[in-house]
Amino acid sequence: MSCPEEQSLLKGPLLSRRTALHGSAVLAATSIAACSARAVDAEQLKPLPVAPTHAVTLRTTVNGRAIELEIDTRTSLLDLLRERLALTGAKKGCDHGQCGACTVHLDGRRVASCLTLAAKGEGRQVVTIEGLSDGATLHPMQQAFIDHDALQCGYCTPGQIMAAVACVAEGNATTKERIREYMSGNICRCGAYVGIVAAIEDAASKMRGA
Ligand code: FES
Ligand code: FES
Repeated sequence: MSCPEEQSLLKGPLLSRRTALHGSAVLAATSIAACSARAVDAEQLKPLPVAPTHAVTLRTTVNGRAIELEIDTRTSLLDLLRERLALTGAKKGCDHGQCGACTVHLDGRRVASCLTLAAKGEGRQVVTIEGLSDGATLHPMQQAFIDHDALQCGYCTPGQIMAAVACVAEGNATTKERIREYMSGNICRCGAYVGIVAAIEDAASKMRGA
């Protein structure tokens, strides 16, 4: 129900500037009063109990190295890798499973590590871009990305390479069209897609040969 001042604002065919300003002030005051009332209500609410920290011991293997450490059950695999293990190759792009920049392998399958709980790595093998090369020898996919200039800023590149290796292993890198389809979860904001597809085709033939 609007107040008389508001009704006069709504009814009158012609509003004087003075009337309009007065009406705005009334509406603003009403809103502030309503907000204050809500603030009082909020203060009267009992705060929710703070959830206890759920610490668990994680035993997993990362890039061939066995690790054991205490983690919060809510920690994402991406945060574990970047914040606790200093493996910053996997990138945090969207943190919502939409860009692929955080792609790593879990037991040989590609996963978005931002959407994967670190606790899911229990007893499993995690491989990141840092663990892909064989010592100083680059993985064929890494070399192909260099050979085909398949990057510009490089931010998406670790995720692209990890996804590409999995794409080949899945048998989905047989044609340009399939590569585009099965790599569609990895976004490149620089638009280096022509080079990326060429690199994957090239590396796929070498990996199959190997
Ligand atoms: Fe994980 Fe974008 S950061 S999908
Ligand atoms: Fe810049 Fe892909 S190279 S986002």
